[in-house]
Amino acid sequence: MTIPIFSLKKQHEMLQVKLSEAFHRVLASGSYILGPEVDSWEREFGDFFGAQYAIGVSSGSDALLLALQALGVGPGDEVIVPTYTFFASAGSVARLGARPVFVDSAPCCYNLSAPAVAQAIGPKTKAIMAVHLFGQAADMESILQVAQKAGLPVVEDVAQALGAKVGDRYAGTLGTVGCFSFFPTKNLGALGEGGMVVTRDEQLAEKLRKLRVHGAKKKYFHEEVGGNFRLHELQAAFLRVKLPRIADWLQQRQRNAEAYYRMFSGSSTARPTTKECVCNQTPPNDSTMSPEILLPFRCNPSHTFNQFVLRISGAGRRDRLREALLARGVGTEVYYPRPLHVQECFRNLGYREGDFPWAERFSRETLALPIYPELETGEIEHVASELCQLAGSL
Ligand SMILES: Cc1ncc(COP(=O)(O)O)c(C=O)c1O
Repeated sequence: MTIPIFSLKKQHEMLQVKLSEAFHRVLASGSYILGPEVDSWEREFGDFFGAQYAIGVSSGSDALLLALQALGVGPGDEVIVPTYTFFASAGSVARLGARPVFVDSAPCCYNLSAPAVAQAIGPKTKAIMAVHLFGQAADMESILQVAQKAGLPVVEDVAQALGAKVGDRYAGTLGTVGCFSFFPTKNLGALGEGGMVVTRDEQLAEKLRKLRVHGAKKKYFHEEVGGNFRLHELQAAFLRVKLPRIADWLQQRQRNAEAYYRMFSGSSTARPTTKECVCNQTPPNDSTMSPEILLPFRCNPSHTFNQFVLRISGAGRRDRLREALLARGVGTEVYYPRPLHVQECFRNLGYREGDFPWAERFSRETLALPIYPELETGEIEHVASELCQLAGSL
């Protein structure tokens, strides 16, 4: 049995007729960029997620860049960012000439910890970036409290957690600005690149719309330097086909996660990463290195499981296990093998190995298993049983 880490094949087979209709509608319209499909998509997205203003952009990375630029982030400013995340979270800060100030993550949910954010705030801090990693919202209540106290805006990076909730509100609508990605592997994937910025601030929304088209409100009259961050009509039309399915797909991801938990509960080597949520505590140090499978912990019941990321402790075991699984046809991924504070491009920031113990540990231990909605229970059982078998022998 071959099981890839991710596949859109079945999803697109199921939607083939509607996607083809959308393609032909755009083809016939003669409008290919920022036209009626994008307008409708922004409205439908905003209505669905309870976002007052929704601005379709070229990618999730560009959504972050635009959000920070609209907030006035520039040279001399600092933005607080978790070090354990996808590159774009911090890359967007550096692209504006500002300095990413890294913080460690909580051992329970891999998300940035609020006490770490509070400690990192200084006189140059211009914004806080809360990344909702792997499909689970960060501890927004605590992060917003910290931000409010310091009078700082919060940018939510919701690239991996579309559909996750905090209480009855969707992640992305709690902070000052929310940034979504429609990269094909995300909870809602386009057939190419795409992103969305949401806000409830009218002035900010206007600025975002302007920056999306080279800073021009009126064509060819540039009030500031923006860029080409426009969303394509085709992607908007495809995403409109997919949005009505999102609730089903998220439910299916959660069902798949339950199936993994059930399977692993029968294994003597698997245990939960932690017994309780410790998001709002200074991360404790845990040097346990026993050969165990550490299962992802849900600090928030609405985890959307964009990824099912567990930890394989014991020196080098994760990588050996990954190779052995691949040899048996099971695809996995490592998100992320190197935290951002020790990336080559950030060496001038002065961080060292050892600065953020949890992020560094996650980079050595985490392994993502296939969890996309169309996976069948038998396939999940196969992945889990191969993993338990191989883990016991490594
Ligand atoms: C956490 C996070 N932020 C930002 C991005 C950037 O999104 P995009 O690939 O659409 O530019 C991604 C995509 O992988 C992501 O995972």
